[in-house]
Amino acid sequence: PPAAPALPRVRCRAPRYPVAVDCSWTLPSALSTTRPVAFIATYRLGMAAHEESRPCLQPTPEATSCSIEDIRMFSLAPYVLNVTAVHPWGASSSFLPFKAENI
Ligand SMILES: *[C@@H]1O[C@H](CO)[C@@H](O)[C@H](O)[C@H]1NC(C)=O
Repeated sequence: PPAAPALPRVRCRAPRYPVAVDCSWTLPSALSTTRPVAFIATYRLGMAAHEESRPCLQPTPEATSCSIEDIRMFSLAPYVLNVTAVHPWGASSSFLPFKAENI
């Protein structure tokens, strides 16, 4: 196995704003053909670690997409999505800060 798990590449779009923000991610192709990988997707409103983290809703743990519902409009604090890829040999997290109005 690779020494360091590869990071998911994450993007979020808001065509359904303000109903929801839709996010999706990919892993580098060398890894995507190995065994199924589960993902844990969570988000916080705000950069501070003490902010409550909530699940970004995925259809299944293997799904490479999730949705954030109940978007707070015109929030001054950014949303921060945390996508963690769980591999047999370890986990790796990517973070994407965004403001719903900007995407
Ligand atoms: C990101 O999510 C993973 C899995 O839930 C968690 O273990 C990790 O602490 C989170 N990282 C941050 C900075 O919130």
